[in-house]
Amino acid sequence: MSAVLKPLPKLATMTEGDLRSVLEIEEAIYEFPWTLGNFRDSLRAGYCCWVDRQGAELIGYAVLMLAGSEAHLLNLSIAPHLQNQGHGRRLLGKLVGAARAHGARTLFLEVRPSNVAGQRLYTAHGFKQIGVRRGYYPARRGREDALVLALDL
Ligand SMILES: CC(C)(COP(=O)(O)OP(=O)(O)OC[C@H]1O[C@@H](n2cnc3c(N)ncnc32)[C@H](O)[C@@H]1OP(=O)(O)O)[C@@H](O)C(=O)NCCC(=O)NCCS
Repeated sequence: MSAVLKPLPKLATMTEGDLRSVLEIEEAIYEFPWTLGNFRDSLRAGYCCWVDRQGAELIGYAVLMLAGSEAHLLNLSIAPHLQNQGHGRRLLGKLVGAARAHGARTLFLEVRPSNVAGQRLYTAHGFKQIGVRRGYYPARRGREDALVLALDL
């Protein structure tokens, strides 16, 4: 009997070379995806951009902006066929740890009211809604509000 052991998921800094596979996931999971320019701008701005890999496979990625005592989670995404298997929860835990390690006291993020999976993930992690940004997101018909969530670190 033989068993093939999968390597453990590993977080690495996102580079230009990752952007093609990042965009493939981004465009598969969002109706209004970030563009290549959005990711390039994030890299150039010095935001913390990570890729989560299992061997050669890209599981997901995240973009975190750190600004003194505040951190802002700008993007957290898991490949469509790997969703709902605990990767988002694990990745979010690492992002929270990184924000804390950088001295942030509060982690903010926005989520669509229609994004049930996202809201469940964040509230299970202790995020609380602190406000609403009206018409924040593009939507099929007009705009969609954003729920603003925050986690005390
Ligand atoms: C939202 C997202 C990051 C969650 O990551 P994930 O790996 O799929 O989620 P996990 O398996 O870690 O599950 C975390 C929680 O999310 C919820 N969840 C995940 N997938 C779900 C689904 N398809 N439907 C409903 N809830 C879901 C569950 O409540 C789960 O907690 P539980 O297992 O204790 O019930 C991921 O689904 C994703 O990339 N979605 C598309 C992009 C997106 O919406 N990003 C967030 C933008 S703010």
